[in-house]
Amino acid sequence: MEELFREVNLKFYKRYSKLDDSKEFWELMKAPLRQSIRINTLKAPFDYIVKRLKERYELEPIPWVKEGFFINTREFSTMIEHALGLVFPQEASSMIPPVVLDPKPGELILDMAAAPGAKTTQIAQYMENEGCLVANDMKKWRVNILRSNLNRFGVLNALVTQKDGTYFGRFKETFDKILLDAPCTSVGMVRKSFKFAKDWKIDRVYMYSKIQKKLILAAYKALKPGGTLVYSTCTVDPFENEEVVDFLLMKTDAKLEKIKLPLKSTPPILEFDGHKYSEEVKKCLRLHPQDNNTEAFFVAKIRKP
Ligand SMILES: C[S@@+](CC[C@H](N)C(=O)[O-])C[C@H]1O[C@@H](n2cnc3c(N)ncnc32)[C@H](O)[C@@H]1O
Repeated sequence: MEELFREVNLKFYKRYSKLDDSKEFWELMKAPLRQSIRINTLKAPFDYIVKRLKERYELEPIPWVKEGFFINTREFSTMIEHALGLVFPQEASSMIPPVVLDPKPGELILDMAAAPGAKTTQIAQYMENEGCLVANDMKKWRVNILRSNLNRFGVLNALVTQKDGTYFGRFKETFDKILLDAPCTSVGMVRKSFKFAKDWKIDRVYMYSKIQKKLILAAYKALKPGGTLVYSTCTVDPFENEEVVDFLLMKTDAKLEKIKLPLKSTPPILEFDGHKYSEEVKKCLRLHPQDNNTEAFFVAKIRKP
């Protein structure tokens, strides 16, 4: 596998070998992903949906999300439960940020980069459709998919907006909770498509890191004192992860909270490519693909004092 990545994109291979040079990392970066679904309790009771599915599929619970299961099919286009919005096909690690956000009914929540809505629908599910969920994305074509997913998955408490996420910085200390599932180089998604390795360029890492820093500052401004901001990406690059969180810690009074979930993780990075980060970032959750046989992911739980 290492050979394959080396041939496809040597710069990609060199950068991420500095991060993790284990055989398992490179093997799992290319291994086919296990399929997983989330049961959508906004449409029907949990037990009813699970019982229906068990008549035709094998389900294995995902330890860190009680509504999540690994499933032995890739054929979602012919699954009636999918067409009806009873199940959302969603990668197991991508279910973590809403769990960490811990939304409650009645809260005012912002999902700053929401399309196509996997995490928005999960947040609405935890809110039991009560309160208000602002679901934003900058790209029009993606907002259209977001709207259609909110519709199909029975989300009734969302307001959809199409803005650059920095727009929300003007609503100072407004939201109880904010999810910033940031645009990123998507290195973790290489298990879905090899194009994320082929097309990877260091310039894009720098570009995204800049955008992410602007977005996280705006999100923090819009957060109420005592509120929770969850920052996540599906990439392993420290410039888009620990560096962005470290930047927020330096610029504001933000505090990090340790994330405790029943899964394995890789220690966060304190120094990379000449950049050093605060010891505090050790509280973030860094998942490499071999940790739990999922996509790579990064999650930080931030609290405003
Ligand atoms: C990682 S994806 C979000 C996935 C989504 N949270 C989900 O779970 O389905 C990042 C999203 O950020 C959006 N985006 C990119 N730049 C943005 C910006 N400046 N403000 C808001 N959204 C942005 C992209 O269109 C993309 O849909």
